[in-house]
Amino acid sequence: MVPLVVVKSPKSPLLLVEDVSVRRNKTDVIKDVNLKIYQGEFVGIVGPNGGGKSTLIQTILGVLKHHSGRILLSEHEPLSQGVFGKVAWVSQAAANLPKNVRLTVRELVSLGVLNHKNWWKRYLPFSSKVEEAIKMVGLSHLAHRDVNQLSGGERQRAVIARALASEADLLLLDEPLVGMDRASRSSLLKLLDSFCHEQNKTIVMISHDIGAMLQTAHRLVYLEETIWFDGPPANFPSLEELALMRGIEDVHGACEQCDDDVPSVLEVE
Ligand SMILES: Nc1ncnc2c1ncn2[C@@H]1O[C@H](COP(=O)(O)OP(=O)(O)O)[C@@H](O)[C@H]1O
Ligand SMILES: [Mg+2]
Repeated sequence: MVPLVVVKSPKSPLLLVEDVSVRRNKTDVIKDVNLKIYQGEFVGIVGPNGGGKSTLIQTILGVLKHHSGRILLSEHEPLSQGVFGKVAWVSQAAANLPKNVRLTVRELVSLGVLNHKNWWKRYLPFSSKVEEAIKMVGLSHLAHRDVNQLSGGERQRAVIARALASEADLLLLDEPLVGMDRASRSSLLKLLDSFCHEQNKTIVMISHDIGAMLQTAHRLVYLEETIWFDGPPANFPSLEELALMRGIEDVHGACEQCDDDVPSVLEVE
């Protein structure tokens, strides 16, 4: 008799990006991108301006179409029913609400619990989720305040609370630190890290603040058209090494071609 061998399947990634290329204006802006992200990870995506970071996020969301490869979120395609409510997107622009929008923090965060099943109900039976999310981002004392009266950092927290109230497993954050002062930036990063450790949320965060990402993310990805580095922050290459990888030669003894948008690791605050 043949012994029964149970082969345990390896943990499947929450997000799978396989050989993905995206064309904008007839040019490939990202090419052959491969990425596997597992639940509970905090992945920082860094790279120069125009390197394709936002394009990648928008493609994961399904807003942009890839012309080759595949993307799966918990084994479902972007925008499919299985993904509904499982992914939240927070951008810097999301916190720049128009001045004529009059919403309190609580009302803004409540929008996060609206979904296709409950939008028609007159009262949402989820107020505890809203209060919990507001508490998590430290805004309970400002819950009744008009979002336009908040500081940039507080508004960014309110937008993040809306994403948390949605109970999405995956948070995609596109430059959420822009415009925040140093204290707000560092408390937001601590908060995001605690979501991963305590609530098993998965965070993919774009930032050109390599210093902040080196100190916070569990894993760093350097994207410039394609992925040049993917690994632990401790192994992140120097800018000179990155330039060499990308075939840029050191002509003046210093890395002059490095994009201004990517601060030197030595400039880390
Ligand atoms: N709406 C758009 N239409 C066409 N091309 C775009 C558009 N937005 C960005 N691009 C181009 O796509 C490339 C990648 O941009 P983007 O994903 O915004 O980079 P990043 O977020 O890393 O700064 C750039 O060359 C940019 O000019
Ligand atoms: Mg961008």
